[in-house]
Amino acid sequence: MTDPSASPSAPAPLGRLWFYANYHCNLACRYCLTESAPNSARRMLPAERMVRAADQAAEIGFTDLGVTGGEPFLRPDMPETLVRLAELLPTVVLTNATLFRGSRVERLRPLVGAPVAVQVSLDSADPTPNDALRAPDNHAMVVEAIPRLVELGIRVRVATTLDPAVPVDEEDQARLCALHRSLGVADEDHVVRPVVRRGRADTVGMGVVARIDDLPPELTITADGAFWSPFGPTVRDGRLDTDLLLTRTTDPLRTPVAAFQRVMAGRPPGDDSRLGIR
Ligand SMILES: C[S@@+](CC[C@H](N)C(=O)[O-])C[C@H]1O[C@@H](n2cnc3c(N)ncnc32)[C@H](O)[C@@H]1O
Ligand code: SF4
Repeated sequence: MTDPSASPSAPAPLGRLWFYANYHCNLACRYCLTESAPNSARRMLPAERMVRAADQAAEIGFTDLGVTGGEPFLRPDMPETLVRLAELLPTVVLTNATLFRGSRVERLRPLVGAPVAVQVSLDSADPTPNDALRAPDNHAMVVEAIPRLVELGIRVRVATTLDPAVPVDEEDQARLCALHRSLGVADEDHVVRPVVRRGRADTVGMGVVARIDDLPPELTITADGAFWSPFGPTVRDGRLDTDLLLTRTTDPLRTPVAAFQRVMAGRPPGDDSRLGIR
């Protein structure tokens, strides 16, 4: 329902600003939308560019920041960069959590006390289906890493990506929720989304076909330009998709913000997605 008190010309809230920190990854998940792998082109966004954009984002009115990849923690500067970003706006970083084994979890100590949430991917309560999609031993590594992060005092979220061709089994989902709770992750910190048919998921014919209206509008900055959503700067057959590219100009941030708001103004009311993409 439309809020009658809302001005028809008031720009929609900007919400979260995303950064693609890099595109390479130590894993090569079956559905990965960026076709990330150890030898992928890195397409790194320098820390100074992220911090400068975050500074402008705070001034413009964004509410928070997201950092994704690739695997952001392959970058040695990631913990320090997250602390700098979080001094400007609350930040969530997405990770496969496979690089925090043993004493390496200590790399994240600088995040303790900062408004940074670490969002870890975990697709099933059971190792077999999770590892078939992500990597051998991935489930065991994630289940080891989460409580260690929680013990350090870091807020952990869990992201589950489901193949929409597989009917949802309520019992499996209940076991996954029991697992994340037992690891110290609250229900409100569990995100579930379908596989989107982009990148490697498109190559293998997996996932939902998402149009622009299905993707939550969240301005996304990459080394190659600014995109409509973090589901925009995907890679297919090694080439960057540009169907959701807004502009190649990312500095000053007001340039992509203006392009983003022009597209938003042409959208129907409501900011939710029909497909539950988060
Ligand atoms: C691209 S990864 C980058 C961060 C990190 N490497 C990770 O896996 O969490 C970010 C999130 O996107 C999810 N993802 C990857 N490919 C997807 C696709 N085709 N559709 C929907 N989500 C996808 C991953 O499972 C992960 O939760
Ligand atoms: S989903 Fe994340 S962990 Fe898996 S290959 Fe893609 S970037 Fe790497």
